[in-house]
Amino acid sequence: MTGPLSTAQIREKYLQFFQSKGHLHLPSYSTVAPDPTTLFTVAGMQPFKEQFMGAPAVFDGVASKRVTTAQKCVRVGDIENVGRTRRHLSLFEMMGNFSFGDYFKRDAIHWAWEFLTGAEWMGMDGSKLYVTIYEDDDEAFMYWTQEIGIDPSHVHRFGADENFWPADAPKEGPNGPCGPCSEIFYDRGPKYGDDSWADYAVTRESARFLEIWNLVFPQFDRQEPLADGTPVLRDLPFKNIDTGMGLERVASVVQDVPDFYSNDVFLPIVTRVAELSGQPYEGEVSVSHRVVAEHIRSVSMVIADGSVPSNTGRGYVVRKILRRACRHAYLLGLREPSLFKLVPIVVDRMGDAYPELRENLAKVEATVKAEEESFLRTLEGGIQRLGKLMSGMERGATLSGNDAFVLYDTYGFPVDLTKEIAEEYGISVDEAGYAESLENAQNLARAGSKYGKSELFGGNMEALDGLSPTVFVGYDDLQADGEVVALVGAGERLTHLSAGSEATVVLSRTPFYAEGGGEVGDTGRIEWDGGAGIVRDTRKTPQGVFLHDVLIESGELKEGLSVRAVVSGERQAIQRHHTATHLLQSALRAVLGSGVQQKGSLVAADRLRFDFSHGAALSADEIAAVETLVSRWVSANFAVTWQEMPIADAKAAGATALFGEKYGETVRVVRVGGSVEYAGQTVSSMELCGGAHVTRTGDIGAFVILSDENVAA
Ligand code: SER
Repeated sequence: MTGPLSTAQIREKYLQFFQSKGHLHLPSYSTVAPDPTTLFTVAGMQPFKEQFMGAPAVFDGVASKRVTTAQKCVRVGDIENVGRTRRHLSLFEMMGNFSFGDYFKRDAIHWAWEFLTGAEWMGMDGSKLYVTIYEDDDEAFMYWTQEIGIDPSHVHRFGADENFWPADAPKEGPNGPCGPCSEIFYDRGPKYGDDSWADYAVTRESARFLEIWNLVFPQFDRQEPLADGTPVLRDLPFKNIDTGMGLERVASVVQDVPDFYSNDVFLPIVTRVAELSGQPYEGEVSVSHRVVAEHIRSVSMVIADGSVPSNTGRGYVVRKILRRACRHAYLLGLREPSLFKLVPIVVDRMGDAYPELRENLAKVEATVKAEEESFLRTLEGGIQRLGKLMSGMERGATLSGNDAFVLYDTYGFPVDLTKEIAEEYGISVDEAGYAESLENAQNLARAGSKYGKSELFGGNMEALDGLSPTVFVGYDDLQADGEVVALVGAGERLTHLSAGSEATVVLSRTPFYAEGGGEVGDTGRIEWDGGAGIVRDTRKTPQGVFLHDVLIESGELKEGLSVRAVVSGERQAIQRHHTATHLLQSALRAVLGSGVQQKGSLVAADRLRFDFSHGAALSADEIAAVETLVSRWVSANFAVTWQEMPIADAKAAGATALFGEKYGETVRVVRVGGSVEYAGQTVSSMELCGGAHVTRTGDIGAFVILSDENVAA
């Protein structure tokens, strides 16, 4: 018995086919975009822009002008349609074959046809295939109709808005390689729609005619247009091929399933969502199954690639996708973190093709779960409040902008979420009113300070303009009293924060260590008369203003209030790991030689990681020697002291500094007050360091190396 090809088999066949045509198969590049034109990798060609422009086509030492990949791509421009329709995905796999000045249009067209219709490949019925071409591309028309033999009535010509890649590139950009394209469509038949191919020329939308492959002929380098707007296209030194076949789309055709969510990758995820929630995948709620299934797939991939939820840039998008999934899980009745339980299925379905998923399973689960926990707290309050506001409103009514603002201001409930929930009830949100309320609140809070956009903490560091550096007392004290100097939410100065909201709090004095030098930011609590909040992280600006990421538990926090700041007990564990990191560095240099250079580190409550340069993996003997050396320091229970001094003095005393790091005039030196012997050497520890440490080496306790890995790649 053979069923239709699985997604994995289609992927494999594609790569095999193009390898048989002399292409080098390269693994997918990361979802983190290879160039700054986008946040995420949006197309299979993106990592090859330089080769299209004429750079040598050499990959890890292998020269090849023909390359094939399965590239994971992320496009989030219309994220709110994902799940509502069954045609949008935020993550998709683009199968591509690329030529860097090697073969061109004719071969690209012939091979696409052979792959789609060849009995041993996709075996599609050629009479169901249709194509579009660029308006004046008579050459492509000739290949399709005369050489391939496709019926001329199956061909449409479009302008640069449809048949150029990037779309409209001559006028709109981006600058760089671009060219006309030819798209291949499959007619899924009247059960998907009663429109005709002629209709498509007008509507350019069809459930029946599904675009499955885009053949691009990059032959131009788009330059800055002239002052009057005239596009400038320069001929590239040679002609290239870039194709992108949508794997999920071809799977729909080959498996003859109605949409992405019924294919062999998504169905198991959707089914698991139904099991976890106890809600069958049917009817109106099925939107939520789809959102959850789609988003957990994309979020797992981007987190595996190193992106993490945050308030800026790529991290903001990760957070937005994840929070949208959280909300739909909530709508399905899931009140506990649940999305993280879906990660293993994603890994099961995609981990063979993308091993980074399997390698990072635990990290992905933990990241998703932590974000779920935090968002569920925000969500509960906001959803209930919104429900109350909308009760009694008719479809077609409008929620006032101020109500939407209060939800945001008080509950941290993002306005795009408010809009999406309201829309489901046929209620719109007065966006102009929202903007006005926001503006008013800013005017009140700003009191003369200027306002603009930048990158930190929700996008507005200027909200912190004019603040003095925070007095840090946390080397010695784990509790301190301070005054609230500023409250910042989503980049705006706020006057007050109510229970349930999350924001950045700036204090006049703080015992909280701000993330830096490898050491994680402190967590803990702040308390004041009538209220309390959880400090979830601490960072600082380059100007030395400490930013506490706070969730208000109870009461109201206002500018000017006195608070007591209390660092969590985890700090002791962090300090043990930090001092141990110094000892580890000295031990490594003693055992492996002074060529060992620190490249980075992570000092957290549960572990430390030390990154260093060294030509080879450590032998078991070397690891044992390093452990023994550190243990000797620990049992000697030496005092650990720190002191500020001019950098010249620190260097003269032989303190270890991080190569390439910029230090100020005055530095802090952390020193262990005694040395140990190793193979005739006297080994001591003195480092430039701003971190938090134990006061005696004996506090460190047991020291074990759990693993030693090569991370050069
Ligand atoms: N770059 C083209 C696209 O993304 C073909 O790979 O559609």
